[in-house]
Amino acid sequence: MLNPIDPLVIRSVAELQRWSDTARAQGRRIALVPTMGALHEGHLSLVRVGYRHADRVIVSIFVNPTQFGPAEDFARYPRDLSRDVELLRKVGADVVFAPAVEEIYPHGDATWVDVERLTSGLCGASRPGHFRGVTTVVARLLNAARPHLAVFGEKDYQQLAVIRRMARDLATGIEIVGAPIVREPDGLAMSSRNVFLSPRARQQATALHAALHEARALVRAGVRDSAALCHEARSRIEKEPLAEIDYVALVDAETLEPVREVTAPAVLALAVRFEGTRLIDNTLFDAETL
Ligand code: PAJ
Repeated sequence: MLNPIDPLVIRSVAELQRWSDTARAQGRRIALVPTMGALHEGHLSLVRVGYRHADRVIVSIFVNPTQFGPAEDFARYPRDLSRDVELLRKVGADVVFAPAVEEIYPHGDATWVDVERLTSGLCGASRPGHFRGVTTVVARLLNAARPHLAVFGEKDYQQLAVIRRMARDLATGIEIVGAPIVREPDGLAMSSRNVFLSPRARQQATALHAALHEARALVRAGVRDSAALCHEARSRIEKEPLAEIDYVALVDAETLEPVREVTAPAVLALAVRFEGTRLIDNTLFDAETL
């Protein structure tokens, strides 16, 4: 359902809770789409998925300091709230929740949410503390928005799996909905960080998608061995002079433990740096693929 009017911009947790309680009292179903802004078509697709499951969509825009490491790009992360609000008006979001840091992390706070095991490998291995920051902020955003469901992109596959586990373990009663990866015409997964790529790096970055595409072709041809698939994917990426591989791994889709063979459902996930910008991508092998 499209909403032609400007989204309501809310800055305080208390006001968002009041808005949400009123909508619930009117029998509305509410979806939350958490983002860090610098919105692109990938984010907007999550809003559309939200409307498939709910009558009201809240989009949060909050560059979360606790999920960035000390040497990471928190300070230079792109921020443009008025552009983001305009894009959200076009997809019809009802509310934009854009809190200040102190609103989410009030002075003297002492509570973290930490999901174990699922966060130790893949991106967790090279970004210590990252997922603790993600789960802590998402828990706080869920409590602020009180949605029936929240939508997350499959692009950040580990994040989606970790948040699913958190929502279940904490008995939030909130459904976590995954949404497909949205790509540029040449296959590069859309990301707010793509703007950091030089033209040369941008071109070479299509290797991530190409490597996953080739892996899918191998699986279709009957290859099941994880080492063989990861080796082929690595070789494809290593053809690009600027590519520095962080990881290429085949993991169980739920536990994120490495698997030796493709058995459904499994995910081939990768992270690669180009001139310091870290990009991730993945592909899911499910019962239909195999
Ligand atoms: P951010 O990187 O802004 O992403 C917000 C949401 O958009 C995430 O669920 C992410 O998976 C999804 N997304 C990003 N690019 C996508 C693409 N190309 N296709 C589909 N979905 C895409 O992820 C975060 O912010 C933060 O960690 C957050 C969850 C907001 C917590 O701070």
